[in-house]
Amino acid sequence: MTATWTPTSWRSSTARQQPAWPDPGHLEAVLKDLSTVPPLVFAGEVRNLEAQLAEVAAGRAFLLQAGDCAESFSDFSADMVRDKLRVILQMAVVLQYSAGVPVVKVGRIAGQFAKPRSADVETVDGVELPSFRGHMVNDIAFDPASRGADPERLMQAYHQSASTLNLLRAFTKGGFADLRRVQAWNQEFVANSPEGRRYDQVAAGIDSALRFMAACGLDADHQPQLHEVDFFTSHEALILGYEEALTRRDSLTGDWYDCSAHMLWIGERTRNPDEAHVEFFSGVRNPIGCKIGPSATPDEVLALCERLNPERRPGRLTLITRMGAAKVEDTLVPILESVAEAGHPVVWSCDPMHGNTFTSDSGHKTRHVDDIMTEVAGFFRAHERAGTWAGGIHIELTGDDVTECLGGSAPIEDADLSTRYETMCDPRLNAAQSLDLAFQVAELLT
Ligand code: PEP
Ligand code: CO
Repeated sequence: MTATWTPTSWRSSTARQQPAWPDPGHLEAVLKDLSTVPPLVFAGEVRNLEAQLAEVAAGRAFLLQAGDCAESFSDFSADMVRDKLRVILQMAVVLQYSAGVPVVKVGRIAGQFAKPRSADVETVDGVELPSFRGHMVNDIAFDPASRGADPERLMQAYHQSASTLNLLRAFTKGGFADLRRVQAWNQEFVANSPEGRRYDQVAAGIDSALRFMAACGLDADHQPQLHEVDFFTSHEALILGYEEALTRRDSLTGDWYDCSAHMLWIGERTRNPDEAHVEFFSGVRNPIGCKIGPSATPDEVLALCERLNPERRPGRLTLITRMGAAKVEDTLVPILESVAEAGHPVVWSCDPMHGNTFTSDSGHKTRHVDDIMTEVAGFFRAHERAGTWAGGIHIELTGDDVTECLGGSAPIEDADLSTRYETMCDPRLNAAQSLDLAFQVAELLT
């Protein structure tokens, strides 16, 4: 943080990927209201996440960050939140049980409503309209009314985040995440897949370990680690007015926290160290993620580390690399080496999704499970070469039985994609593909 940082200092730098709000007065009125609403998360929780991420940075834990590419206002229900949480908990259990490392669980959830776009406008049959930027900004339907940026959506995003977070807190602290229920997390459509059956074996192993411990006299009811989990929220902090409005000063420490989520990340398109997103996030105390794509040089990455974590606080900075399966190993090694040499204690996480997106013959934006796995394996090899800790994965998934990514143990082919292609933005792994990935990552970890 610079000496001149304030929650509004980003306003004098270039802010990329901001919507063209048609009525600035309307926007400022909504932001003023947002600056008085209760915070979604609390500084103490955020510090707890930073402490857990410090364990990842030290090579003693693994980060699992997962959820939707873009959450939806219209496709929103308690069951969808539960099913997404359930698949993330399943993946965490697989990683913890098979690899024996603690897993830090962070959702792309309860605030993941804004999308960066490569082009500001979209043209269909000669008609040009603003691009869809996520439900926090506009709607996906291709007509002028839907595509106009509406500030009321910022308030709706806040309220949907609040109700999602309320449900997540209930599920994770109120019995649903109890390890004694680990078998019930397998959904019916997953249970009959090879990875579903493999999961049942893990669940049976956990069950017998718990029975053994009970027989030894350990009372599970009095061990919160066995019936509650810490689950944190995160999103790409793109719309800076919204993030500024939810930034509050912690009464205990006097530090500024962005209370829209526990962890925020800066996207590949907005990570210029001289621009507004990096300026804003240099001054809030939350753990910050930053995407690093294939064009990044070691010097650029070092500049980001200096700007976002000059005090070298472990757990503060997570670098989420998204290089593409073909390039990952060779592009990553020099970056890992120079960051390690400079003594920056970062969490290294692999996003194997965004560097592997293509349009299939049937015209669907998709990804192949094999490319996703190839990037994860290359990420692990690069860390082995550099002597650094492959600390986590960052993926887009859903708890539903969708057909958006190709491949898997019951392979989805191009012709199957249209069966249940439901994403508003990028293609997500379905629950079975996600579980399969967790088993493969667990093998790389051991
Ligand atoms: C995303 O995570 O959905 C995204 C847009 O990623 P990136 O900034 O890496 O392109
Ligand atoms: Co995405």
